[in-house]
Amino acid sequence: MKSIVVAYDSMRTIGRDGNLPWAGKMPADMQHFKDLTEGTSVIMGRKTYESLPEAYRPLPNRQNIVLSVSAAAIRGAIIARNLEEAYEYAGENAMVIGGAEIYQQALPTVDRVFATEIMHRTVKGDAFFPPLPASEWCMTDIQDFEADTRNKYDYSFVTYIRRNLVEQLDSEE
Ligand SMILES: NC(=O)c1ccc[n+]([C@@H]2O[C@H](COP(=O)([O-])OP(=O)(O)OC[C@H]3O[C@@H](n4cnc5c(N)ncnc54)[C@H](OP(=O)(O)O)[C@@H]3O)[C@@H](O)[C@H]2O)c1
Repeated sequence: MKSIVVAYDSMRTIGRDGNLPWAGKMPADMQHFKDLTEGTSVIMGRKTYESLPEAYRPLPNRQNIVLSVSAAAIRGAIIARNLEEAYEYAGENAMVIGGAEIYQQALPTVDRVFATEIMHRTVKGDAFFPPLPASEWCMTDIQDFEADTRNKYDYSFVTYIRRNLVEQLDSEE
């Protein structure tokens, strides 16, 4: 199943100045991202790849696939020239991990979204995640957490599945 993994705030902000607005302030989200994506193929835009800290580039224990029209080669990653090509490299377990341009293009092609919903309103965010209309998406799991000494904001891990898929699975039971 193709999935998106994303963290967004109460305004659906995902980025500011080429980085995560809550960088270094939400380690629980970093751990969740690691748990979800290790052992899979991650697909990301060239700008997201470049935003990763040197030590995490390429992301370890994952096949890194970077979408780029312009780049000739990227250390530790496979370059895909379009989304279709990226999915061919990824095989069964494709995880689309951003950024905004790639989420926008990939959303119609995925069946599942793993979202970290961060209870915060970023000022001057400049990258956003599209809405998930209830007519198309069904929330199938939610876990709520309060801010603590390490994580600055309240947050929830939420899973959304495409509604027609949920209905299909229900009718097969
Ligand atoms: N909160 C989160 O979960 C999350 C996750 C990831 C990223 N982010 C944030 O998102 C922001 C970056 O997002 P962004 O939209 O600026 O950039 P992006 O989506 O990471 O990358 C855009 C680049 O991808 C390539 N690209 C786009 N569509 C393509 C296609 N169809 N085929 C081939 N290549 C394609 C192009 O690279 P070339 O120019 O090289 O051709 C384009 O410049 C940052 O702030 C980052 O921190 C947040």
